[in-house]
Amino acid sequence: MLIRGVICKKRMCAISLCSLFVVALYLCKYPIYDYILKKIYDLNTNHSKHMKDNQAAFEELELYLRMSSAFLEMYDNVLLPSLRYFWPGNVSIVVVLDQERPEDHKLGETLSKRYPYPRVAYQNPIDPVIYHWRGHERMQRDFFYPEDKITKRYVGFIDTDTVFVTRVIPELLFEEGKPVIIGNYGKYDTPLFAKEESLGTGKMLKSKEIARGMSYFPVIMKVSHIVELRNYVEKLHNKTFDEIFKISSNGPYSQFSVMCQYVWNFHRDEYKFYFHLRSYNNGTWHGEDNPPGREPYAFYQTNVTEEQKMPKPRSSIHLRYHDNWKNPDTLRNVIKTGICFSGGFDICPDQCKHLNRSAIQKELYYFEYNDWSWDKRCLDQQRKHYALVDERSNNVTLQALATGCAEVNRLSFKP
Ligand SMILES: *[C@@H]1O[C@H](CO)[C@@H](O)[C@H](O)[C@H]1NC(C)=O
Ligand SMILES: *[C@@H]1O[C@H](CO)[C@@H](O)[C@H](O)[C@H]1NC(C)=O
Ligand SMILES: *[C@@H]1O[C@H](CO)[C@@H](O)[C@H](O)[C@H]1NC(C)=O
Ligand SMILES: *[C@@H]1O[C@H](CO)[C@@H](O)[C@H](O)[C@H]1NC(C)=O
Ligand SMILES: *[C@@H]1O[C@H](CO)[C@@H](O)[C@H](O)[C@H]1NC(C)=O
Ligand SMILES: *[C@@H]1O[C@H](CO)[C@@H](O)[C@H](O)[C@H]1NC(C)=O
Ligand SMILES: *[C@@H]1O[C@H](CO)[C@@H](O)[C@H](O)[C@H]1NC(C)=O
Repeated sequence: MLIRGVICKKRMCAISLCSLFVVALYLCKYPIYDYILKKIYDLNTNHSKHMKDNQAAFEELELYLRMSSAFLEMYDNVLLPSLRYFWPGNVSIVVVLDQERPEDHKLGETLSKRYPYPRVAYQNPIDPVIYHWRGHERMQRDFFYPEDKITKRYVGFIDTDTVFVTRVIPELLFEEGKPVIIGNYGKYDTPLFAKEESLGTGKMLKSKEIARGMSYFPVIMKVSHIVELRNYVEKLHNKTFDEIFKISSNGPYSQFSVMCQYVWNFHRDEYKFYFHLRSYNNGTWHGEDNPPGREPYAFYQTNVTEEQKMPKPRSSIHLRYHDNWKNPDTLRNVIKTGICFSGGFDICPDQCKHLNRSAIQKELYYFEYNDWSWDKRCLDQQRKHYALVDERSNNVTLQALATGCAEVNRLSFKP
């Protein structure tokens, strides 16, 4: 009896504990499960929504290349191979040439008939006084007038010495459907462009420069924002834009810094900003030698968010401002490295055995002598990029990669 009683009591105990547990589960189960499921669902839907938005924005992008016959070799040997291997599918691009030059019309005709089958547009001549008779300045000026050249919503400025160094996926150029901007911030940027350049931005916009904008390619802007920028500057100075340009372009300035500055001031929520902290002392910079026209260090500390300080992989480098660009192997090596990381380790392992696939691909973080790869977070961001590259790969991109594997060793360019 005694034994039975104990067993009975134990059972009662077990039953009541059990029901308590069931009640607890009943109370807790739904909120917890709901919460977890909702989080997973949110993450997934956010992810696929962002992928869709980025793809849609990418389809609204047209590349803009201001060119002349002097740069034909660069176009053929530098820009085109990297576009062919890394740009997904057909390239939406307009090549802009000089209206008044018969040789440019000839060039336009031949270019339009071969890869990447660009649209060709011609820019009317203007008074050379505006650009001080310097072809380079004329090109910079024309960047401010994209609206009759570009047929899409976004313009993406590139150069003939832009070299794509990784598979281009929409996520490199757009996030949440907004164009990515990667400005350089820190001690004045390159030995070539003096610290005074920041003053040029300030003069045109009458505000301090937040970062250097000539620090990534393609520089993507809403076309309408550039038109708006010109109108704004005209009102600000009570002069025509070309008169203002004439004054600005007589000293150091950068059209891309001006554009990035303008959209930071007036359309910040429509772009995704990143601030690449200059690396000359591997991130231990505290404001010394800040360019005179630049926002002070306090701006970087307080106005720039942690998210905006994250390393963002770039799609391309600017070849002529690479340390070793005069070495004919440099171009081949940077493109080959990009092929390996973009899938070559699996598709053409022999080509890639000299590389460590777990290591950093420095070119993702290197632009005009400025290296961001010292930042420990770069490797993680690189892995995320390549996970997306995998997710976005398809027959067209794999075919381009295979072509790259087969051709890359034959690439040559003699600077
Ligand atoms: C989803 O994205 C929105 C903005 O697009 C953001 O506010 C929200 O926190 C994101 N949710 C998750 C779970 O990441
Ligand atoms: C590229 O353009 C060609 C000719 O216009 C077309 O036939 C082809 O389907 C396009 N390819 C892709 C991937 O869009
Ligand atoms: C703008 O410049 C014009 C002459 O170019 C002058 O007549 C006008 O008063 C100026 N407006 C302002 C607001 O300064
Ligand atoms: C920065 O780091 C790199 C490697 O991460 C190293 O080679 C270089 O010497 C460092 N520079 C300074 C100034 O510490
Ligand atoms: C920095 O933040 C302050 C305070 O929010 C704001 O007044 C200022 O305009 C910001 N500066 C820039 C350049 O965005
Ligand atoms: C490859 O790179 C990773 C990350 O930098 C490193 O941990 C590993 O030791 C490297 N492997 C070789 C064989 O060098
Ligand atoms: C894509 O590649 C897969 C496997 O290589 C093949 O089965 C499929 O037919 C291809 N699709 C097209 C549209 O070429």
